[in-house]
Amino acid sequence: MAKFKGHLKKSLIGILAATTLIMLSQAGVQQKKPEVPYVPTPEEVVEEMLRIARVGKADVLYDLGCGDGRIVITAAKKFGCRGVGIDIDPQRIKESRENAIKEGVSDRVQFYQMDLFEADIGEATVVTLYLLSKVNLRLRPKLFKELNPGTRVVSHAFNMGNWEPDASSSVRTSDYLSEYIVDYWDEHSVNYWDFHTVYFWVIPGNVTGTWRLRIQDISASNELTLKFDQEFQQVTGKAIDGNSSIPVYIKDGKIKGNLLQFTIDRKRRERTESMHFEGFVQGNTMQGTLEIEGSPGKEKIKWKAMRDVLTLRSIINSDSSGMDSFKIRLSAT
Ligand SMILES: C[S@@+](CC[C@H](N)C(=O)[O-])C[C@H]1O[C@@H](n2cnc3c(N)ncnc32)[C@H](O)[C@@H]1O
Repeated sequence: MAKFKGHLKKSLIGILAATTLIMLSQAGVQQKKPEVPYVPTPEEVVEEMLRIARVGKADVLYDLGCGDGRIVITAAKKFGCRGVGIDIDPQRIKESRENAIKEGVSDRVQFYQMDLFEADIGEATVVTLYLLSKVNLRLRPKLFKELNPGTRVVSHAFNMGNWEPDASSSVRTSDYLSEYIVDYWDEHSVNYWDFHTVYFWVIPGNVTGTWRLRIQDISASNELTLKFDQEFQQVTGKAIDGNSSIPVYIKDGKIKGNLLQFTIDRKRRERTESMHFEGFVQGNTMQGTLEIEGSPGKEKIKWKAMRDVLTLRSIINSDSSGMDSFKIRLSAT
């Protein structure tokens, strides 16, 4: 009996401690105010965000600052993907869960009350945002650190400073103003309330550093040393041909997810030929094909490259251009 009482006491202490911990952690979350007020994305814009990101069954979509859960729920309902919504406001999470049940997708979506900066987002294949440019800029390093190359990021209305979008589009909505009274100014979104801009990015792989590239030519193998610099998806640099040792600039370099494209012009028997490279990057290896412009037959030649690991650098440059003035005042009409 005494043994049983001791066990019960231990269990109670355990439950109490766990409850206190949960309460403390919830109190901690609640103390932090939302950095962005709640304004729902109109359904037409939600549709466009999901369209531009080509959301499909195999995707896992994260909405950071999910509001009433509409983006996650529409994605699960219309495209059959899995979804996760994060919001710091417990009222929004309650609404999201109720809406998921109403729409019959609660088996495919989850909602968590927490600070989006503390969320583990590594499994996402699509991330949606409706925050502010300055919050997007603070979030940028986390996106690059945690998301795999190829992950799509979509933002309603707010850009990412000097990280240029891979695509953007506009949607016109009708009765938005009747729901909210808004004072708004933002140099990037002048016609905001008529036209909603949707920005789209793909997290680029990192090709910075020095690579040894071997062209598997039919007649002979050919080696190049490539020195790549990269800022987001823009790739620049130099190539040194094994035979000449004179560097040439890399042209039209860009990377979308893991797909790299660049061009090298080189002199061959009194004429210049353009070599268009295309290949996939996987860690410190990349491989693909190249086409030589104007060459008869236009055959694709295989190439493979390996990076000197020690030459890898960051591809994010800090930026303050997203610190736009923004003021939003809301009151339900
Ligand atoms: C403009 S609303 C967007 C809601 C929803 N994504 C949509 O597009 O309809 C921004 C949301 O972000 C939430 N939020 C603001 N700061 C946050 C933070 N640090 N962590 C998590 N959520 C936050 C707010 O509570 C609000 O619901």
